[in-house]
Amino acid sequence: MKVLVATEKPFAAVAVDGIRDEVEKAGHVMALLEKYTDKQQLLDAVADADALIIRSDKVDKDVLDAAAKLKIVVRAGAGYDNVDLAEATAHGVVVENTPGQNSNAVAELVFGMAVFMARNAFNGKAGTELKGKRLGIHAFGQVGRNVARIAKGFGMEVSALDPYCPDEVMVEAGVKPVHSVEELYRDNEYVSLHIPATAETRGSVGLELVSLMPKGGVLINTARKEVIDEASLKKALEQRPDLKYVADVAPDAADEFREAFAERVFFTPKKMGAQTAEANINAGLAAARQIVAFFRDGDTRFRVNK
Ligand code: 3PG
Repeated sequence: MKVLVATEKPFAAVAVDGIRDEVEKAGHVMALLEKYTDKQQLLDAVADADALIIRSDKVDKDVLDAAAKLKIVVRAGAGYDNVDLAEATAHGVVVENTPGQNSNAVAELVFGMAVFMARNAFNGKAGTELKGKRLGIHAFGQVGRNVARIAKGFGMEVSALDPYCPDEVMVEAGVKPVHSVEELYRDNEYVSLHIPATAETRGSVGLELVSLMPKGGVLINTARKEVIDEASLKKALEQRPDLKYVADVAPDAADEFREAFAERVFFTPKKMGAQTAEANINAGLAAARQIVAFFRDGDTRFRVNK
C-alpha cells in the first residue's frame, strides 16, 4: 500500500524517518509531500495513495475525488475540522485522529503565552505572576487536562467547564468543575480555550463572555480561530483596556487587532502548539501505526466518521 504523508507544515525530520520506518516495516511504501503551496500539488499526490497522513491540511471533496484508491486518512493530531467527514464517508474513506499525542506540547505553549502576557510581552516593565491566579479551562479534553496538570505547578487555582466530561474526572485532577460558561469567564483571570471548532462552538466566544472576566483578564486561544467571534471580541478589548488576548490561532483580522491593541494581543505567525519534535514523533508514529493496524487487522478504533 502507498501511504502519503502530506503536510503543508512539515513534521520534524526525525518524525518523518520514524513514520517511514513504521510503514516500510509493515511492507508498505511511504511518499512525502511537504510545504506544498498549491492545492493541485495535493490533488496530484493523492491520486495513487491508499492511505493519507495529514496535519491541518484540508481534505475536502476535491481531494477525495482525486484520491480514487484512498481507504483511510489519519489526522496526526486532535482536531479534525479540516476533514470533510460526510464526504469521506460518502467516498468510503475511514477518518481517524490521534487523540492525546500532541496535547502536552499544546499545553506547554499555553503557559509560554500566559507568562509572556503576564510579563507585558517581555517589555521590561513590572508584570504579574501566575501563582495564586485563577485559571478556567474551557473544555477538559486531553489538552485541557495537561493544562490543569501544569497549572498546578504554577500554583494556580484551576476550574474547568466541559459538559462531555464527568465531574469526577476533574475532581480527581484537583480541578473544580464549573457548570455554566458564564461562571467560567466571570470567575477566572485566565481562561484557556480547548473547545473544538464545531457547528455548536463556532463564533461562540466574544464580547458577552469575555467582558465577564475579572480585571486584568487574559484569554488564551490555542484551539481554533473559528470559535472566536472576532468583531465582538474586538469590542470587548475596546471597552475594557485591562483585557488581553493571546492566540496560537491568529484571527483573520490579526493586523487590525495588533494595530488597535498593541501589546495587549499576541499571535504566533503560524500555529505552533503541536510543533515540537516530541509531538511530531508521537502523533506521526501513532498515525503510521494506526494505518498499519487498519490494513493488517481492519482496526478502526480511532475512527471519527460514521
Ligand atoms: C491539533 O488539532 O492536533 C492541533 O491543532 C495541531 O495542529 P497541527 O498539526 O496543524 O500543528
